[in-house]
Amino acid sequence: MKIITVIGARPQIIKAAGLSRAIKENFSKEMEEVIIHTGQHYDENMSNVFFTELGIPKPNYNLNVGSGKHGQQTARMIEGIEEILEKEIPDAIVVYGDTNSTLAAGVAAAKMHIPIVHIEAGLRSYNKKMPEEINRIMCDHASTLLFSPTKAGVDNLVKEGFKCNAEPPYSMDHPGVFHCGDIMYDNSLFFSKLSDQQSNVVKENSLEPNNYVLSTIHRNDNTDQPERLSGIFEAILELIEKHNIQFVLPLHPRTAKLLETNTSSELYAKIKSEKRLKVIEPVSFLDMIALEKNAKIIVTDSGGVQKEAFFFEKPCVILRPETEWVELVACGAAAIVGWHKDKIVTAFDHFISSKDIKFPSLFGDGQSGKFMCEKMIESFTIQD
Ligand code: UD1
Ligand code: UDP
Repeated sequence: MKIITVIGARPQIIKAAGLSRAIKENFSKEMEEVIIHTGQHYDENMSNVFFTELGIPKPNYNLNVGSGKHGQQTARMIEGIEEILEKEIPDAIVVYGDTNSTLAAGVAAAKMHIPIVHIEAGLRSYNKKMPEEINRIMCDHASTLLFSPTKAGVDNLVKEGFKCNAEPPYSMDHPGVFHCGDIMYDNSLFFSKLSDQQSNVVKENSLEPNNYVLSTIHRNDNTDQPERLSGIFEAILELIEKHNIQFVLPLHPRTAKLLETNTSSELYAKIKSEKRLKVIEPVSFLDMIALEKNAKIIVTDSGGVQKEAFFFEKPCVILRPETEWVELVACGAAAIVGWHKDKIVTAFDHFISSKDIKFPSLFGDGQSGKFMCEKMIESFTIQD
């Protein structure tokens, strides 16, 4: 069978490494993968670095759509993907997560009756003002195979009318829903050893293992509203002072571009002059794993980084008012705090003094990629 994988944003490129690896290791005779990169992310350290480092095959197509307003960016992608689908005629299209690249691929494929395989299906924030919530709901409801990493994801789908015990053959009107573990857990396990061997990022940045905080911030909800971005940075500065602890912040280009505009000149000057706040360029995945494994606490609004904090048994302060990864909060390993300075500080203080945080096994056995390939082969072979 031939699948087309559509990627575009940083986390999707990383996720795709897991499936490409599963295909290469187990199913190279049964499956051919063609990769489309929409070009949603394009900086060297937001895109190329991952292909080089993670052994992902070079994309067969790059649409180079770049940045833009939601409609403009998504429309350009749909147009490009449709043309390629017409030419390649795949048995299925594989999409990840909830970005505009996911939605565009979903729309193009659904209208051509090409089965959509949605990896990371069923996740919900129950906040439809998030562009990602719209993208993931629309994509789920046009998909033929829905692979959910968590039980909560499957439950969300059931609430929306999906059946989790549907029998094949599957179609858009009779989709298959599977609870299959998390492709990012597969990746974190796989690349952790390589990161230990290859990454020098902790040393290079003069960080003391287990005595610094890793932070990432990029959610539009946080970056685009001055009071929210300011609340987060005020909290970081307060925590640095209170605990005399180093922060390292590999900054997403969206945030880097807005930091000066959306903070006061006084706050911006403090951010720039604080030696214990190291703002660095986005790092490679092996470096990111090293930063995560050696951090004391992680403070983030990223979906992927929240989970990786959990995989590497680090408590996590979530800079959002809700999360799709509700299990992390339910088991006490993460706290939802939004952008309020005092809430961020309180949650951080709690974690820095907690000794017995539990990190139960919630995300599968590290073989979700293999499981998904098996299901794809089974499903689309039956349909043929
Ligand atoms: C996108 C996803 C978000 C995901 C994130 C992962 C959507 C709606 N959002 O958000 O779900 O969590 O990717 O990182 O799809 N930029 C650069 N260089 C790049 C890429 C972006 O400078 O290589 C800057 C541009 O100014 C751009 C801005 O970042 O306008 C935002 O990029 P965009 O891809 O639109 O959204 P993200 O915030 O990255
Ligand atoms: N990541 C990375 N380098 C960085 C920041 C993040 O490799 O400088 C990785 C991180 O380990 C995770 C993924 O990017 O696997 C998360 O992507 P991001 O935070 O951009 O998006 P989200 O997961 O919130 O959609």
